[in-house]
Amino acid sequence: MHFQQRTIHCGLLRPEHVGTSVTLNGWVNARRDYGGIIFIDLRDREGIAQVVVDSSFTPDLGAAIHDVRGEYVLWVKGTIRMRENPNPRIPTGLVEVLVDEIGVINAAEVPPFEIVDDLGTNEELRLTHRYLDLRRPVMQQNFIVRNRLYQLTHKFFEQEGFIEVETPVLTKSTPEGARDFLVPSRINKGKFYALPQSPQLFKQLLMVSGFDKYMQIVKCFRDEDLRADRQPEFTQIDVEMSFVTQEDILALTERFIAFVWKDILDVDVAAPFLRMPFHEALETYGSDKPDIRYDLRLTNVTATAIATSFGVFTDTIAAGGVVMALNAKSCGSFSRKQLDELTEHAKKYGAKGLPWLKVQGAEITGSFAKAISPEEAQALASAMAAVDGDLMLFVPGEWERACIIAGSLRTEVARRTGILEACAGKFSFHWITEFPLLEHSEEEQRWIARHHPFTSPLLDDVELLGTDPTHARAIAHDLVINGYEAAGGSIRIHRSDVQQQMFDLLGFTREDAMEKFGFLLNALTYGAPPHGGIAFGFDRLAMLLCGTDNIRDVIAFPKTTSGLSLMDACPSSVDEHQLRDLGIGLAQR
Ligand code: AMO
Repeated sequence: MHFQQRTIHCGLLRPEHVGTSVTLNGWVNARRDYGGIIFIDLRDREGIAQVVVDSSFTPDLGAAIHDVRGEYVLWVKGTIRMRENPNPRIPTGLVEVLVDEIGVINAAEVPPFEIVDDLGTNEELRLTHRYLDLRRPVMQQNFIVRNRLYQLTHKFFEQEGFIEVETPVLTKSTPEGARDFLVPSRINKGKFYALPQSPQLFKQLLMVSGFDKYMQIVKCFRDEDLRADRQPEFTQIDVEMSFVTQEDILALTERFIAFVWKDILDVDVAAPFLRMPFHEALETYGSDKPDIRYDLRLTNVTATAIATSFGVFTDTIAAGGVVMALNAKSCGSFSRKQLDELTEHAKKYGAKGLPWLKVQGAEITGSFAKAISPEEAQALASAMAAVDGDLMLFVPGEWERACIIAGSLRTEVARRTGILEACAGKFSFHWITEFPLLEHSEEEQRWIARHHPFTSPLLDDVELLGTDPTHARAIAHDLVINGYEAAGGSIRIHRSDVQQQMFDLLGFTREDAMEKFGFLLNALTYGAPPHGGIAFGFDRLAMLLCGTDNIRDVIAFPKTTSGLSLMDACPSSVDEHQLRDLGIGLAQR
């Protein structure tokens, strides 16, 4: 098959090229026939160009493309001229190519959906034919941005003196964090590798080895429930440094983010970023990753609620709980149906119900207005600065749960009132710090590490490990951008005895700790430097830079929320003999 190779991409044609002869290779985006004149929009990675075939002069050309329709692959040679009817909506819209020679390189079936940006098609169909979905210009643009992010990451960290080291993909299963994906060993039957949830321990060992500054763009694997911003395999920019303080890590991160945002979006990012302790973030915004582009705040009204005659409040407080509240400004007009929907929303996060009040002129009405006196209602309104037309939503309960439910209502109210939409194109960057080191798992009846078990407690709080672990804080930091956790890290424990103390606290027996983490405990005895780091969610950064809220838009071949790859039908069954080789039998099918 004969074809001529491109001399320029379709999307790069501009008026300065007028009069020159070019060759284009691309896909037919659209074809319009006007008698003897045929217009073809030809598409490639860089964009779309209009090519014109004047078959009244050159019938051979018309014959050559007689059967051509959408997604056929063509080569085109012609001369660039100004258009009679410019199209201001596309960058090539001032010019067109008058065709001298044209040929079909390959035919195409009619695709199952149109290759256009604003596509109504359901995502399943798009994922099944992902190679076609990726042809859409908006997707190609996303991957051009993603590529830019790779290049800038390597450039930045190289300039800062980091070296990239690859860590293994077949690793040891460790019992913290999400579930592992396991890989059975054929040679060592009955034994399993685990795919890494992150290279956490390897990067710490590289610090013990003296690498000083390590980074890696690395695939990580977690078998957890998926959401719009989570995938079972995802990419991190993993970073670790020796002889540093938390300040050094935060400053490095801020330089990196400013470097990337300036280059890709031409946005000047102001540093240092705001820092918010975990407790304040929860109490003020109801989240450890709040979107603070909008200023809708929660109020802890426990002190006022305790003085009311509403049993739901007083009983909760008597049992050690709190009452968190959200003043949904100007939402007093919400209908019964909207309030029911908000209640259902709160219930999904664990609320039992959603008591509410509305300020209507001098009166306060609402779901429990009759259970309290007008003065008590007024006191609640004053506590949360509610005025005429406002809706007050109340969440009684255990402190952290109540904060999280109220925070989910904050997001929902922002979504319903257009507050969130008005934030489009804006960015907010901030740190969450002073996380609790541990949390108590009711299910397992033991302490678990909130970040991971290698995170150092704040020096002031080390003593609390023995006396009051609940209140021990970690030297940990999460970077939050527009309500997404974009990165997380900490200063690590670098002393073997302290690490052992941590494992004791987490309920590992000495033998268990040695079996699972002996290599780390040993390594820490051979002169481990103080060290710490951070890992960025590469896909989440790409999402934010591309302005999408769907992580699948920036991953070429993603999984659905049920963990499936629809295109190649994965995961799939395997042959009996493959299982036999591995010494594996299936309990049920
Ligand atoms: P962490 O678990 O916070 O820390 O992960 C770091 C960052 O990775 C991103 N991320 C994800 N992105 C997409 N899909 C997922 N399932 C997913 N899970 C996490 C987030 C997150 O902030 N070893 C530590 C880092 C350290 O301490 O240095 C770690 O992995 O953006």
